[in-house]
Order: sequence, then C-alpha cells, then structure tokens
Amino acid sequence: MKTMLSGIQPTGDLHLGNYLGAIKNWVRLLDEYYGYFFIVDYHAITIPYDVASMQPRILDAAVEYLASGLDPSKCIIYVQSHVPAHTELTWILNSVTPIMELERMTQYKDKAEQHKENINAGLFTYPTLMAADILLYHPDAVPVGEDQVQHLELTRVLARKFNARYGEYFKEPKTLMSEAKRILGLDGKRKMSKSLNNHIPLKATAEQTEKLLLGAVTDPDRKRRSDPGNPDVCNIYSLHKLFTPAAEYEECAKQCRCAGIGCVDCKKILAKHMNAALTPVRERITAYAAKKDFVIDVLRDGAKKANEVANKTLREVKSLMGLIADWQ
Ligand code: ADP
Ligand code: TRP
Repeated sequence: MKTMLSGIQPTGDLHLGNYLGAIKNWVRLLDEYYGYFFIVDYHAITIPYDVASMQPRILDAAVEYLASGLDPSKCIIYVQSHVPAHTELTWILNSVTPIMELERMTQYKDKAEQHKENINAGLFTYPTLMAADILLYHPDAVPVGEDQVQHLELTRVLARKFNARYGEYFKEPKTLMSEAKRILGLDGKRKMSKSLNNHIPLKATAEQTEKLLLGAVTDPDRKRRSDPGNPDVCNIYSLHKLFTPAAEYEECAKQCRCAGIGCVDCKKILAKHMNAALTPVRERITAYAAKKDFVIDVLRDGAKKANEVANKTLREVKSLMGLIADWQ
C-alpha cells in the first residue's frame, strides 16, 4: 500500500484551517494510503511558548486527530520528539542544505517578522527538520495546506542533493493539497492560523462558532444592510461553499448582490451548516478527552512503530555516508 505522512504543531487549539486544509483530507486519503501522522512538538519550540501547556496541548492534538477520524488501525499517530532519529537526520541533512534555500522560505520570513525578539537558528533550519520528518519514512505523498508547499519543494531538493552526493536512496514525495488549501481567517485577509488569533477552534461550541462568525469581516464595501454586497470578495461566502448545500449558498449570493439579505442572516445560515458538520467531531473530542489512557496508548504504540521505521532509515543513511564502523 502507498504511504502518506503529515503533522501539525501543538501550538494551540486545532482550527478550521487545519481541519479543512489538512486533517479532513488525511482521513479521506486513508482508503488509499497508510498514514504516518505526528504531533510536531520540536517545530513548535522555535517560537516562544508556555512550557506548562506543552503536554496538555500534545494530548489535545492527539484527541483531535482521533476525533477527526484518524483510525489507528489505518495509520500510526506519534509525537515527533519521541522518535530521536528525526533530529539526528536533521543534522545530517543540514550538511546538504544550502543556506540560500533557507533564506528564501516565506514562512521563515513571516515568523522572523512576527517574532523579531527571538529569531533563533531553529526557526531558520525548521524546513530541514521537516525534510527529515518526511524522508525518514519514504512516504509517497505528503498532504498539507498551501503554506507548506515551499517546504516540500525544499524536501525534494534535499533528497536530490543527498542522492547526488551519497548514492540514490531517498524517494521524492509528492505534495497533495486539499480542495480547501488556504482557509482565510476571520479577518478575511490572512490565512487562518492559531498564531494570528483569527481562527475558529475545531472544538468551539455551536454558540461560540456562531459568535465568532458574526464578528467576521465580510465584503469591506458593504457598510450598511441596504448596500448590495459582492460575494466574490467575501470570506463568509467561500466558507459557505464548503458547508452549505449549493442551492442554498447560490441563493445567499443572489440575495447578497441585491441586498435582499444582510450579512448577519447570511452568517447565521453558515453557522447552522457549519455546526451540523462539526457537531459529530466535537462530540468525539469530548469522548476521547475522557479516555486519556487510550490516547496515551495510541501515542506509545505509534512511537514504537515509528522508531522501528526511522531507525532503519537512519542506519542505512549512515552506512551510505561512511558513518558506521564495522565493529559498531
Ligand atoms: P498554524 O498555521 O495554525 O500554526 P500549522 O502550521 O500547524 O497551523 O498547520 C498544520 C497543517 O494545517 C498544515 O498542513 C497546514 O498547511 C494546514 N493549515 C494551517 N492553516 C491553514 C489554513 N488557513 N488553510 C488551509 N490549511 C491550513
Ligand atoms: N511545518 C508544518 C506546519 O507548520 C508541520 C510539519 C512539520 C509537517 N513536519 C512536517 C507537515 C512533515 C508535513 C510533513 O504546518
């Protein structure tokens, strides 16, 4: 069976962008691919974080993975730092990573801009760790949102550079993007992100979801209820397309253009459909959160299996590089 691999940082509540742009796609692909899904804690420490919240966040992410439909019989779920080979291969890949390539990364530039007081080397070599995360498991595909495409291109560059220097070994994985590859935040401008605080948490209640949607930015030129709106520039409309039946969202668009309905009505319709789609996931979040021992077992078992695959790769890599002695 083909394999896929992906991960999310435990930097806060998973949100609708993570769910629609990544996890929902992972679950859909499980029919075709065996999955490696991990919680990316080593990447999360490259920006300032609250130490006491790290472990609860890792467990929350595992709960949300399971609740979203990642079935542990079809994939393994583990924590990045529980597999030491990730950091060991990172060092090796650092030695074939051109600094100029890292300097081009837009996520690095954005994060360096956001955290001017803490531009650390980890933030800079973040994409090399990501390449190691991936190449250790030889996946056929990596399903991610649009913001990660550049990192995957770099992963392929590093695989080629390694192969050119030490012999054909790594396979170049392909990028798989979901239909919802870039969900905008409630500000209607930037991508929805935990760190930008413009998100709808996956585990928000129906009431919280409606409240967040009511505060979301719509067509900026529609200032009064009586102004006709333009759905094509409205983020609420793009979300409608992901949750509302076509006939109903087309009617919303028509009524928006002639000021037949206001933004509040339109948002309430969206909230209804969004909540109907997310309620089962939220119920499963509550159920898994109450089964902490089960979740920990899933992560333990995942780490055991991941270590087996990753250690084998690392040994082969070191052997190709002349790093294994015959007495070792
Ligand atoms: P965040 O940006 O909120 O910190 P991560 O960087 O951990 O989230 O992203 C985890 C996964 O979710 C990645 O595959 C990423 O591409 C996807 N993702 C994150 N935000 C969005 C978004 N707004 N739209 C689509 N996909 C997204
Ligand atoms: N950098 C990714 C993000 O911010 C998370 C990530 C780390 C990842 N390692 C990965 C995603 C390997 C896919 C594959 O979203």
